[in-house]
Amino acid sequence: MGDIAGKRVLVREDLNVPMVDGAVSDDTRLRATVPTVAELADRGAIVLVLAHFGRPKVPSAEFSLSQVTSAYADVLGRPVHYVDWEGDAAAVAKLAPGDIAVLENTRFFGGEEKNDPAIVARFAALGDFYVNDAFSAAHRAHASTEGLAHVLPSFAGRAMEAELDALEKALGKPEHPVAAVVGGAKVSSKLDVLTHLVDKVDHLIIGGGMANTFLAARGVDVGKSLCEHDLIATVEGIFTAAERANCTIHLPYDVVVAKEFRANPPVRTVNVHEVAADEMILDIGPAATEALADVLKTCRTLVWNGPLGAFETPPFDTATIALAWTAAALTQSGSLVSVAGGGDTVAALNQAGVAEDFTFVSTAGGAFLEWMEGKTLPGVAALLHG
Ligand code: 3PG
Repeated sequence: MGDIAGKRVLVREDLNVPMVDGAVSDDTRLRATVPTVAELADRGAIVLVLAHFGRPKVPSAEFSLSQVTSAYADVLGRPVHYVDWEGDAAAVAKLAPGDIAVLENTRFFGGEEKNDPAIVARFAALGDFYVNDAFSAAHRAHASTEGLAHVLPSFAGRAMEAELDALEKALGKPEHPVAAVVGGAKVSSKLDVLTHLVDKVDHLIIGGGMANTFLAARGVDVGKSLCEHDLIATVEGIFTAAERANCTIHLPYDVVVAKEFRANPPVRTVNVHEVAADEMILDIGPAATEALADVLKTCRTLVWNGPLGAFETPPFDTATIALAWTAAALTQSGSLVSVAGGGDTVAALNQAGVAEDFTFVSTAGGAFLEWMEGKTLPGVAALLHG
């Protein structure tokens, strides 16, 4: 980027953080922006942070980024100016080299999500350079995530670089054997991921509610468990594709069941063939968890999206936490490259206390999933190809 002292740099970050009672409840995404924003400010740029917040239909205080500014200043350890869309050009003109400002929610302009050239031009007029540092918004072809890369000299930020690098290691040119853990409630929500992964990985570990549909496709009576019976033929197709690609699909052979889904109900650990008609599967059992740990011990790369059980309700977090510990220990010992992403997965890893021990934990939700589907993310493509 050369000498940027005194230049105005538009930096697309993802400040879409969760709030509880008006306060930021998880500042992970804010922290992820620090390397890029601090470096630009230290190099004397006027740093103009562009971001969306929520999904506003019209501008409103509820979706104003002014709510995030003070938490952001705390995380950066530097003052942060807030610039409203009224009189933004004049406010930006008053900023000095090294200053950092958060511009109001980009989605307050209807043209943002339409990638409207007029909005692209309006944003572009504020800056000399564009840096995209928001991998987690890169699946959106919006004015601030995609359009700007075509009209200003553009660069990837540090967090974006780290994401792309880690993802390339995980599925681009990974060291084999590769294992993928795919969990979550429904097969239907991750069909494209599953289909894509069978051709990419050596071991596909299925967890969460979606494992029930796979078990049902194998002739297991899953009782009252969450199960998408209408997708059984689709799942059979995934088994066939996996066999063709030499990918082993791992399903649990023991499971933890309960008659009601609530915290700490009476539970039984049973073989999958012993689930009673009035019981539901809520976690993978200890024997299956140990077998999965043995699989990970033979692998060099792991990509993880989705918990193995109903992890937000104890004790159904047991298998997820145990396997997370195994993956963390293997990563720390240097035998495994581990990459995880998605809101639930990151929450589960935090619950297990091992997020720091993975090779890389993505801040992305939807973007991580689309990447796992093998899709080209428009925000990334625009950066690479201009
Ligand atoms: C996210 O929270 O995953 C990103 O900020 C993207 O938000 P969106 O789904 O509203 O585009």
